[in-house]
Order: sequence, then structure tokens, then C-alpha cells
Amino acid sequence: MAVKPIRTVPDPILRQKAKRVKTIDNSIQKLIADMRETLMSANGVGLAAPQVGVSLRVIVISIPHQDQKNDEYCLINPEIVRRTGERAVREGCLSIPGYIGEIKRSEQVRVKGIDTAGKELKLRAEGLLAEALEHEIDHINGVLYVDHLESQDKLQKVEPEPESKDVSI
Ligand code: NI
Repeated sequence: MAVKPIRTVPDPILRQKAKRVKTIDNSIQKLIADMRETLMSANGVGLAAPQVGVSLRVIVISIPHQDQKNDEYCLINPEIVRRTGERAVREGCLSIPGYIGEIKRSEQVRVKGIDTAGKELKLRAEGLLAEALEHEIDHINGVLYVDHLESQDKLQKVEPEPESKDVSI
């Protein structure tokens, strides 16, 4: 496993529609292991393969708990099958360091994809997990959260603070 450098804007790979994974072979398992390690070292909530320079439809998510182990998710070829409700969130992205934007996300999502063993996976999510799924699935479609800003004044420059509650997805 290895920590990979995280691509940041305006790297063109972040704007490409990533390709579907056809076979979950060793190179995909290694990619997932590297993505997990990179996400952990960056203290983020989620990461999509294009952010580590691989234009494939793979995402990893790690939802923090107080005093508990994080909930870890890995989805291959994920798709949102249903979105319900709307809520305002403050969102950051590891590929857009130093900024937080206020955007709208769904209250609940249903997602399907396949897991690392190649089995079909269905998830129903709300809260931070729903937000992270929408954010990461945007990434594999070449979409960034700043595309959802209603106006530029909803984007705020922030100093990186270790105690900050803002999360980067
Ligand atoms: Ni992001």
C-alpha cells in the first residue's frame, strides 16, 4: 500500500468521466488499498480514483465516529438510483484545498454498485454518508462541488485548522 499524491484543481483528470471497472483484478485491489491509505493520511471522508490519478469508477468513504472505528465503504461502478429531499451543507474537497462552499445536497440517497468481492451492493444513506456518496459519484463523472454553487459568494476561503469541524470529501 502507498499514500498517493492527491490531484488538485485544475488537473484535467478531475474533469474526465471515469471509465467503468470491468474486472476486479489485483490492480484494482491495489488501487483500493492505496486509496484507503491516502484517504486516511489526508484525514478526509471520501476519495474517488481520479483524485489519485486513475480515471476509473471506484470510490472509498470513511465516516468518522466518536471513540469508535470509522465506517468504511468501497464501491465500484456506483450509481445513484434515487435522491430524496434537499438540505444545505458546507462542503470541502481534498482536490480544492483551502475552500468550503455552501451547496444543496439530497437528504437521502439510494446507491447501487459492486463491492470489492464483485457482489452487487445496495445502500440507503442519509446525513454525511449520503453527502459523501453524492460528492464521490460526482467526482467519477468529472463534477466538483463548486459546480453546484448558486453564486461565488457561497464559496469561502478557510485556513486549514486541525480542530475544524469542516470535512473534506
Ligand atoms: Ni472531493
